[in-house]
Amino acid sequence: MSAPKKLFIKTYGCQMNVYDSERMAEALGGEGYIETKSADDADMILLNTCHIREKAAEKVYSELGRFKGLKAEKPDLKIGVAGCVAQAEGEEIMRRQPLVDLVVGPQSYHRLPEMEAKARAGEKVLDTDFPEEDKFEKLKNRPKAKRGPTAFLTVQEGCDKFCAFCVVPYTRGAEVSRPADRILREAQDLVERGVREITLLGQNVNAYHGAGPNGDLTLAQLIWELDKIDGLERIRFTTSHPNDMQDDLIEAHGTCAKLMPYLHLPVQAGSDKILKRMNRSHTAESYIRLIERIRAARPDILISGDFIVGFPEETEEDFQATMDLVEEVKYGTAYSFKYSTRPGTPAAERAQVDSAAADDRLQRLQALLTRQQREVQDSMVGREVGVLFEKAGRLPGQMVGKSDYLHAVHVADCSRGIGELARVRIVSSGANSLAGELIS
Ligand code: 5AD
Ligand code: SF4
Repeated sequence: MSAPKKLFIKTYGCQMNVYDSERMAEALGGEGYIETKSADDADMILLNTCHIREKAAEKVYSELGRFKGLKAEKPDLKIGVAGCVAQAEGEEIMRRQPLVDLVVGPQSYHRLPEMEAKARAGEKVLDTDFPEEDKFEKLKNRPKAKRGPTAFLTVQEGCDKFCAFCVVPYTRGAEVSRPADRILREAQDLVERGVREITLLGQNVNAYHGAGPNGDLTLAQLIWELDKIDGLERIRFTTSHPNDMQDDLIEAHGTCAKLMPYLHLPVQAGSDKILKRMNRSHTAESYIRLIERIRAARPDILISGDFIVGFPEETEEDFQATMDLVEEVKYGTAYSFKYSTRPGTPAAERAQVDSAAADDRLQRLQALLTRQQREVQDSMVGREVGVLFEKAGRLPGQMVGKSDYLHAVHVADCSRGIGELARVRIVSSGANSLAGELIS
């Protein structure tokens, strides 16, 4: 038998890409590849790229340039670009960087085995189509390998919202939901392999409307189906749009014990003028009312968000409205970004905010969000929470896991193993994690 070939995947960006990288590794696993942590001993390198914020394409070119020496030493080395940059500028990548053998868009990963064979035969291969077939079905997990206690499961891809700053509708395409039975089978399989917590993924996950036996299911209905799986202890989902937060999903947060009290609900800005220009189709007020309804259903829910500062035409007053909204909502955690232009999106054509002013606003916003995050974390001290243990800690006998609210929690002298869910009392709050003790 020939020695296994080695695959090095470098993943950028969101959890969807992490999930996709796992699926690519599985697809190529069937072709005799095993994963390696080092590009130096790889037979195939895949960059799974992200296009959402930074100067994504330029980063990819500079990363690729670094493989030049490696490819000169090892002519059989194959180099591929996957993900959203591949989707957006695949042909350009092929033209500009001759080192690249293969370009594969997010909708074509199930065709990787054929593409790999062609690349091995010396062809340059590019596949960035949006096919009709279900790539996930083709990528069904092959061997029943054991898994860690947490997993991502993509239920929906793409987005029809067309926020004026965002490339997702162009790179990931129109919103498509996977049929419920496939998701449920995949979830069951994950649980059989040791998974206790599943995070349902989608760019616009609460727009989920996958086919079920009696018509389409909402995300809440899908969650209730997952709730029936024995051995599955926790369910999360990300990322949601405020306008798709339906009543049954809000209600599920109050009634479904497996659905964790954590909700990532990006608002992006607090000024109605800016929200309108962003094409968000909600107002600051409607967002705040929505948060109130969610908290009425589940008072302890931890709210997380995304923010963009320095969006074209944002004035100091507009920015202040974002700060006011943050004060009102009180976020447990949040991601905030300085606006950066994405060619091809509507906002790219507009007058840009002065860069230094945007930096200053970002700093002020981040200071406020960090303070809130700290307060919410500190407020956990003395409380009893569920913790799912994921790994051993740095100290002997210590275990680390995530609380229901997604805080990292350390427990000293812990008698529980990886994959066990325990009740823990939080005793102190540190820089980025909590310490707790088991409640026996
Ligand atoms: N500039 C800055 N931030 C952006 N995001 C998306 N596009 C841009 C952009 N052009 C942020 C949004 C989104 C998160 C995933 O990334 O806040 O919710
Ligand atoms: Fe992008 Fe999210 Fe807006 Fe869709 S809803 S366009 S993914 S920011």
